[in-house]
Amino acid sequence: MTQLKNHHWLNGIDEYLTRINHVHAEQFKQIPKAIHQGNIWSIRNMMLDLIKEGTKTTSKANTNLLLSHYLPDYEPTEKQLLRFTHRYVDDGFLVDIYSWLERHQHLADLNLDDHFSRGQIKSKLWMMEELRNVVSGNELGIVVLYGGWYATIAHFFFKFFSPSKLYSIDLDSTTVDIADGFNIRHGERNEWQFKAFAQDVNSIRYDKEGKLTLPNDDRLDNLTIKPTVIVNTSCEHMNEDWFYNLPDGQFVALQTNDYFANEQHTNCVNSVNEALAKYKFSEVYFSGELDTQLYNRFMIIGKK
Ligand SMILES: C[S@@+](CC[C@H](N)C(=O)[O-])C[C@H]1O[C@@H](n2cnc3c(N)ncnc32)[C@H](O)[C@@H]1O
Repeated sequence: MTQLKNHHWLNGIDEYLTRINHVHAEQFKQIPKAIHQGNIWSIRNMMLDLIKEGTKTTSKANTNLLLSHYLPDYEPTEKQLLRFTHRYVDDGFLVDIYSWLERHQHLADLNLDDHFSRGQIKSKLWMMEELRNVVSGNELGIVVLYGGWYATIAHFFFKFFSPSKLYSIDLDSTTVDIADGFNIRHGERNEWQFKAFAQDVNSIRYDKEGKLTLPNDDRLDNLTIKPTVIVNTSCEHMNEDWFYNLPDGQFVALQTNDYFANEQHTNCVNSVNEALAKYKFSEVYFSGELDTQLYNRFMIIGKK
């Protein structure tokens, strides 16, 4: 038996499909069962599916993948796994991940597990669920992500709400193409309903009408917008200036955590009460914590 990579991102996909009660959630569970645990019944059932479809150019690769737990020195690639998953699960999120991998192959090994770990997916869906309790209806207006990274959360906003626009701002300019790539269906292919930008969010200033001007970009320039919701799930990476520079009354959803051990985390908190003391909201609609096994996430939704 080979020692396979863990492919933690498969746990994130499992979390996502289970939490949204996806019709193919149970079917999906058979895949990690087969390849990680070598479960003979899962392998058998999917093998029968392969036999039914007859010989194809992919038959050998799919057979190897199904038997990978038992094949010495065989390791399926992330792309093979995603392509195989697509046979059983019809979902836009998986399609987006697949096309993102095609475009940014080199990032797969580095980031797939980080982005789509169970903890990440759980935290993002937690925000959707609590926002659902706070917001009436689907309209969210203009959503702006602060420290948006690769903006994988955008998919959930478009799935669970109807934001008119969703913009992501991150200090790191290398994230712009990657975020735009991940969200291409809502961005480039849909009149830039989604767009990522590079800027330090601590330097963002609002005018008297509560508007901000987004940075120039080759494809969209000088947009002045009035955000409806500011979302920051990267608070642990930056100080609180961004929050206190927002107009009073601004609707905000933020997450931070107690993962002090991560050296990139410069501003963690120990509890949700510590977060509430750090980010002084004038009205709090929700505050709570979520155990992600590795660390606790804290979330506040309210008005600055
Ligand atoms: C590595 S991600 C972590 C994301 C977060 N834990 C989550 O689950 O969404 C943090 C991001 O914050 C960004 N960031 C840090 N300081 C920032 C700042 N002052 N302005 C904008 N983005 C910032 C980093 O560039 C990085 O992309």
